[in-house]
Amino acid sequence: MKIFIDTADLDEIREIASWGIIDGVTTNPTLVAKSGRSFNEILEEIFKIVDGPISLEVISEKADDMVKEAKELISKVSEKYRKNIAIKIPMTSEGLKAVKNLSKEGIRTNVTLIFSANQALLAAKAGAAFVSPFIGRLDDIGQEGMQIVEEIVEIFCNYDIETEVIVASVRHPIHVIDAAKIGANIATLPPGVIRKMVKHSLTDIGIKQFLNDWKKVKK
Ligand code: G3P
Repeated sequence: MKIFIDTADLDEIREIASWGIIDGVTTNPTLVAKSGRSFNEILEEIFKIVDGPISLEVISEKADDMVKEAKELISKVSEKYRKNIAIKIPMTSEGLKAVKNLSKEGIRTNVTLIFSANQALLAAKAGAAFVSPFIGRLDDIGQEGMQIVEEIVEIFCNYDIETEVIVASVRHPIHVIDAAKIGANIATLPPGVIRKMVKHSLTDIGIKQFLNDWKKVKK
């Protein structure tokens, strides 16, 4: 399973990418706002750090405006990095229209705010390169988020659909294990979840013990 980092925090992206585990980045307007920097400032930097799909979200609501905005976003990124851009489009009928038009022009899209397998199927039909089911937000309202990931992966397998499934709105490491067991292509993870995946108390105890015992070795 590929791991994307779900943040617009450049320091976190830089640090965690240096561990050699990051295959791509997803951002959204909320994450950009949290970073405290302007979108333009962040843009080029992210592409310099990670050589993999980078999702940038449009905020327009009409298909034509989304397409226009997507092209403006692309024009802000240096030509050498453009192959890595994925335009994040919200799952609406206008969004589907935009996905169809962008994919015709060879522009990859990531359809976001997916909360059902039907939405994912439609996004794939329209030509999305990625679909992003938001599992944590479903869990938050008492629905089993991971169930829709299972359904989407099964449906895409049944029909050899090439659209990749990005498990998004991940809240904890168990979500990651479940996504990998189901066979999702990608999980996009907040830095905090990735840090939790690294840690185990027995690893820390083990290191401490080895270091103490090493002091006892005759020099
Ligand atoms: O990429 C967006 C998605 O992961 C949002 O997560 O935590 O705001 O539900 P969250």
